[in-house]
Amino acid sequence: MIFTEIEHFVTANFSLLGVTCTPSSVSSFTRELTAYAANYPDEGYEVFFWTYDKGLGKCGSQEFELLPNTNDPLNVLEQIEDTQDKAVYVLHNFQQFLTGQKADPLVVARLFNLAHKLKTTNQTIILLEEDIKLPMFEGLIHVFDYGLPSAAVIKAFLKQLVNRLPPGITKPHVGNELVRSCQGLTIAEINDAIRFSLKKYPQLNSDILGQQVNQFKLAKLKRLGVELSHEPDVKVGGFKTLKTWLTRRKKLFASPNKKLPQPKGVMLVGVPGCGKSLIAKNIGSELGVPVMHLDIRSLYHSLLGETEKNLRRVLKTAEAIAPVCLWIDEIEKAFDGGSSTHDGGVSKGVFGTFLNWMQEKQQPVFVVATANKVNSLPPEFLRKGRFDEIFFVDLPNTEERSDILAIHLKKFEINLSVEQVQTLVKKTEDFTGAEIAYLVTEAVTLAHAEERQLSLLDLETVLKEITPQADRDYESIQQIRSWARLMARPAS
Ligand SMILES: Nc1ncnc2c1ncn2[C@@H]1O[C@H](COP(=O)(O)OP(=O)(O)OP(=O)(O)O)[C@@H](O)[C@H]1O
Ligand SMILES: [Mg+2]
Repeated sequence: MIFTEIEHFVTANFSLLGVTCTPSSVSSFTRELTAYAANYPDEGYEVFFWTYDKGLGKCGSQEFELLPNTNDPLNVLEQIEDTQDKAVYVLHNFQQFLTGQKADPLVVARLFNLAHKLKTTNQTIILLEEDIKLPMFEGLIHVFDYGLPSAAVIKAFLKQLVNRLPPGITKPHVGNELVRSCQGLTIAEINDAIRFSLKKYPQLNSDILGQQVNQFKLAKLKRLGVELSHEPDVKVGGFKTLKTWLTRRKKLFASPNKKLPQPKGVMLVGVPGCGKSLIAKNIGSELGVPVMHLDIRSLYHSLLGETEKNLRRVLKTAEAIAPVCLWIDEIEKAFDGGSSTHDGGVSKGVFGTFLNWMQEKQQPVFVVATANKVNSLPPEFLRKGRFDEIFFVDLPNTEERSDILAIHLKKFEINLSVEQVQTLVKKTEDFTGAEIAYLVTEAVTLAHAEERQLSLLDLETVLKEITPQADRDYESIQQIRSWARLMARPAS
């Protein structure tokens, strides 16, 4: 737990700590820290909180006591230097005076000296930021992450909140379902969502409340470029090897036994239209967890540093929602440094952040990444051990085409004889799954327009109109096939 770790550092006289947290978690971090310090009165640490607009104030007392003339970053550092009490000073958004446009070399120098000086005292400064980047304090600052609240923290908070509800409002039951709906939100966001819902419907039960909170969460995810993906309306044909591979890992995923290997994720590379996105959605249902679909392009932001910050927010949310499947479609677009929307530097940062996270993630987040073009993917991304496996998705073979046809015919309740299906399977050589799906939909549309039952003839008419993508672009399929022979395992 972060507060125990912070305590160890504070009592060992570390002078400068950093804590990263989302803006809406600032007050809950400070409140929790103050409560934690108050629980250890023998240690006698006071907690102070500073913001540029208000200055420095003491936490914990009934009223937030502000100390005069402490708004200025230099003044607050002087104030800290002049006091001898055992104290922790939380400085919120102080980094702006240390780096970037508003940086003041005097503030940097003063903090640097102070950090050295405080090593012999009982005072610690905590810089509280959404993201900490202070290379000049390397080795002097220790950074912690105040992630999104865990299920246990959410449950405790909900119970407290429900107990404090005024009479006249039905107290909803705080069960696991409600807690699960709140995962991925900060305490402040949960508070807002619940208070808003209760105001709107004072007689809520926990199921409806859970749905309301989920709406809040969906809106938050949407702002981050993430959609919770629904179960697909068609089954996936083919992918035999991948399906067996996944079944083998299913029990390991989210297993409480930490000694067993945790599945990290899978990379799907292959021919467009052959079901990569479809199987990605299915992997979630197979593992019994929701699928977070990240549109990587939406992370890109014109402001320097914002893109990585956005990615970190998404990854933190995925960890809070875990167990979950994080599906990143067309991941090559994130590394497409030459595109007009972003430069190579940003792509590198995004890449580094993502790989680091893949390496270090502790929570059961199963990553499914898909790519059509392998040339723009950096080699480190594909090295062994990064993903559990890289699968290559080729054009469907005879048996798979028959499977895919059956799935799409069934969708429209079309019954064909075995011979008729075989005829179609033969005639759809080199078709992608998407082209087979198109063939069936078009034939249904044709028959419907002419107000009659669909016949094999309709399917054959449409068939003649389709030139498979593979015939038009055979070269790029050959290219990706020869890459896959060395780098990936066939998905079927
Ligand atoms: N193996 C399959 N089984 C059933 N349907 C399939 C299959 N492959 C493709 N389809 C159909 O084609 C549609 C498009 O496939 P999908 O989007 O999954 O392909 P993709 O490989 O992700 O393509 P892209 O590379 O262009 O994103 C699916 O929604 C589905 O209707
Ligand atoms: Mg796709």
